[in-house]
Amino acid sequence: MSFVIAVAGKGGIGKTTLTGLIIRNLRRRGKVPILAVDADSNVNLAETIGFEEGKTVGAVRESFSSELSSIPYGMDKDTFLELKLNEAMVEGKDVDILAMGRGEGPGCYCPVNNMLRRFLDVLANNYPFVVIDNEAGMEHLSRRILQAIDVLLIVSDTTPKGVRTAGRIRDLIRELQLSIKNSYFVINRIQGELETTIQTEMEKQGFDSFYGIPMDSLICEYDLALKPLTDLPEESIAVNAVNKMLSEIL
Ligand SMILES: Nc1ncnc2c1ncn2[C@@H]1O[C@H](COP(=O)(O)OP(=O)(O)OP(=O)(O)O)[C@@H](O)[C@H]1O
Ligand SMILES: [Mg+2]
Repeated sequence: MSFVIAVAGKGGIGKTTLTGLIIRNLRRRGKVPILAVDADSNVNLAETIGFEEGKTVGAVRESFSSELSSIPYGMDKDTFLELKLNEAMVEGKDVDILAMGRGEGPGCYCPVNNMLRRFLDVLANNYPFVVIDNEAGMEHLSRRILQAIDVLLIVSDTTPKGVRTAGRIRDLIRELQLSIKNSYFVINRIQGELETTIQTEMEKQGFDSFYGIPMDSLICEYDLALKPLTDLPEESIAVNAVNKMLSEIL
């Protein structure tokens, strides 16, 4: 059984950054191999953790139907899809990454998705840790690419509106009736004290505690220089905050 960590939140809130820092932490603690799933159609997790971008699952799925006629003799569809999906895996030393890419287009049919779900279930089971960077719209979560999540991190910024949006996202995820063992609220890019309005909004939304990640100029620096966040030094204040959070929740 693998331990699945999923990161969700509205656009631009820091999901990919947090996913990158989680992968950095797991890797350094020897909690490997890790399967990193980029479930954002705007694929960029690979770059964040220093990987080349590969083919996406969406691209494989799109070409699958038209390639059905070329299935080698004696091979069934499941095996053929599995073979094709391996083209979407980018393999590293401790981390393999799979980018989901765009959701299905109008021509895509359900059996492919069912096969895909089976493939992901089997694939994920080969890794003790799976980390998923979700897109703001949570399309892949809502299609239940993985049914069971051990830790769900809902990220907000330091505004009351951000907290409200995080509450809405939590409610939406609840409606999906996925199996989520634990979910935690995270406030990212904290600078100084939080406004009291945040505390008020948190109470309204039923968030009774949060993990805070500070605004870290090193992250901006690495971002601008296109350096992978997995290379951030231990002194990074965001790295420290994520490490502390994970030591408590894992
Ligand atoms: N703690 C932080 N300190 C400094 N910069 C940060 C921090 N967290 C995120 N950022 C910066 O904020 C920007 C958005 O972050 P990120 O790409 O992780 O968000 P996202 O939620 O994945 O966005 P999207 O919804 O577009 O996928 C990036 O430029 C990133 O470097
Ligand atoms: Mg992102």
